Amino acid sequence: MAEKRAFVTGHPIAHSRSPKIHGYWLNKYGIDGSYQAIDVAPTDFADFLKSLGEEGYRGGNVTIPHKEAAFAGVARRDHAADEIGAVNTLWFEDGVLWGGNTDGYGFAANLDQYAPGWAVNGPAVVLGAGGASRAVIHALKERGIKDIRIVNRTLARAEELSRHFGPGVSAHGAVGELLADAGLLINTTALGMHGDATLSADPAGLPDHAIVTDIVYVPLETPLLAAARARGLNTVDGLGMLLHQAVPGFERWFGRKPEVTPELRRMIVADIEGH
Ligand code: ATR
Repeated sequence: MAEKRAFVTGHPIAHSRSPKIHGYWLNKYGIDGSYQAIDVAPTDFADFLKSLGEEGYRGGNVTIPHKEAAFAGVARRDHAADEIGAVNTLWFEDGVLWGGNTDGYGFAANLDQYAPGWAVNGPAVVLGAGGASRAVIHALKERGIKDIRIVNRTLARAEELSRHFGPGVSAHGAVGELLADAGLLINTTALGMHGDATLSADPAGLPDHAIVTDIVYVPLETPLLAAARARGLNTVDGLGMLLHQAVPGFERWFGRKPEVTPELRRMIVADIEGH
């Protein structure tokens, strides 16, 4: 049988860790497949999508800046992609190009691994209102969290997400008293906790049972996670979200659900620390 082929596309793409993750699994399971990084400029992305079938790809991942263009360009989308408004995973079903979004799945699976039972822990405070925040809010809603508080420097963006996700999702311009009864604190801003007073969410203000997680994984221990750990709270770093979001795509293209093993994590940690 022909080699099964998949890819990750972005612009730039050289620093993507996805080829290492999928390459590890292909090797571990002895699958006759490949996963390559393909740099595609935004102006070429529509043509790239059209060429996938004839190039023989089973599908692939899409990253910055193509997630919205992929959302618009696929023939069908799964529910998560529609809710999040972006596509990070492509695959063919009966010759039709599908787009899905596995970022919310990866977020939840990471917490399942390192903080089992986390979903009974609401209310949740989410810092940031960008693309990553949408995936996190989608996952929180799916897991039944009824009180989700978005805090963002630009209040209007938080309000837009609050409207999009509906009842139980509120918008705030500052953290204020929001942490006092929160069970989960999630940072989705690239910036982490540096430099902006409105996002100075001090984990000291959280209850003892709260879980703190950051989707940023470089550095592995962000200032927020360090402060939460010093306060004695349960913390989960963001690397597991990257590893777990890769699982559904691999399973679709290569036919086997891969495991997020300690060995895989060590390999990617070494890569992060080496750069
Ligand atoms: P992503 O897709 O990674 O979430 P994004 O859509 O650019 O990226 O969103 C970045 C998030 O980080 C936003 O919530 C942004 O706040 P604004 O909506 O107010 O721009 C937040 N962010 C980025 N830089 C920031 C800063 N210096 N201070 C506070 N928030 C910041």
